[in-house]
Amino acid sequence: MDAHFTILALETSCDETAAAVVRGGRTIISNVVASQLDEHRRYGGIVPEVASRQHILALDAVVREALQPLPGGWNDIHAVAATYGPGLAGALMTGLNAAKAIAWIRNLPFVGVNHIEAHIYANWLLAGEQSGEPQFPLIALVVSGGHTLLALLEDHGCYRMLGQTRDDAAGEAFDKVARLMGLGFPGGPAIQQAAADAPGGVTLPRAWLRDSYDFSFSGLKTAVLHQIREHEAREASLQVGAAKGATGRRGSGPKSGGAPPVSQAGGPPRLSPAFVARLARAFQESVVDVLVTKTVEAARAYGATEILLAGGVAANVRLREELQRRAPVGVRVPPVALCTDNAAMIGAAAFYRFDVGRQDGWDLDVNPGLRLG
Ligand code: KG4
Ligand code: ZN
Repeated sequence: MDAHFTILALETSCDETAAAVVRGGRTIISNVVASQLDEHRRYGGIVPEVASRQHILALDAVVREALQPLPGGWNDIHAVAATYGPGLAGALMTGLNAAKAIAWIRNLPFVGVNHIEAHIYANWLLAGEQSGEPQFPLIALVVSGGHTLLALLEDHGCYRMLGQTRDDAAGEAFDKVARLMGLGFPGGPAIQQAAADAPGGVTLPRAWLRDSYDFSFSGLKTAVLHQIREHEAREASLQVGAAKGATGRRGSGPKSGGAPPVSQAGGPPRLSPAFVARLARAFQESVVDVLVTKTVEAARAYGATEILLAGGVAANVRLREELQRRAPVGVRVPPVALCTDNAAMIGAAAFYRFDVGRQDGWDLDVNPGLRLG
């Protein structure tokens, strides 16, 4: 395929309206992301109806901005691509239909892209010091809000699923646990920040699921909940004791860490920042340990030349550090902006589909439950 082959790619599977222009599968000409986070934050999670509507409102401006750097504008685009799954059905539909309409009007080839595959292809984009192309066989760890899986890549488009989550995705676990602890949404960055300067001392369980590359995070979530309940019960009994012991002296109540307690969303304050920080750290360490251990085992077992990290949770600093420290081969991680949802990764994945002669027709529908491989 021509190294100048230029693709306009759209991504609307969740809460980011994104358009990018990618040349030769690896060079980002533009990468525009309009985040809807502020629209969803007040609900503490993503509301599908709100997402679809916001995509429709944002798409036109986002596509126009993505085309700006092209001297010939639309004439410099050779093909169009969009995510067709997995994701929210209504949200996917907005981007897929926009991409099909553009391709039809401009008489351009069109291809639908698997969002999970695209996260992996973020590793092909030229960014920072990473310049050589990843060499097969590769082990990819995809960790996002909706997916957690380990795959063996033997060639472009040739995947073997080694393991996946049996319950929550890693990012989903970060988001849910952050909510339990009264931290903000999205939970990943909030937990990372809370854990940053926390002392150790608390250890949470790891679900190893022996002899399997599968993952499970729901038990860990329950363990966090138990820690919170126990902490609350302890604090409550201390307060009762203090109230009994208090004889009119002000400010003599129990203190944990000095700072005021963290307020739960809409509820009364109950968890001290020091407790939240220790628990956030223990949770993060548990998730990272299991993810890294299984990825390293897979890389050894399949003789991978490199490990590719992908998905929103790949933005996690501890995960990056620990994988790089323990991996037997090189680890490739896209810059943070290319780990979370974006359209440049869709453009990269699309290039390698066109490269093997793939093209989709106007009948391509969204597939909210699309899997890899
Ligand atoms: O890939 P992504 O942008 O969207 C999906 O396709 O799901 O991933 C979003 C997820 C959220 O669950 C968010 O909490 C998590 O990635 N995330 C992180 C970090 N930054 C984002 N998780 C852990 N540590 C981070 N620094
Ligand atoms: Zn994603």
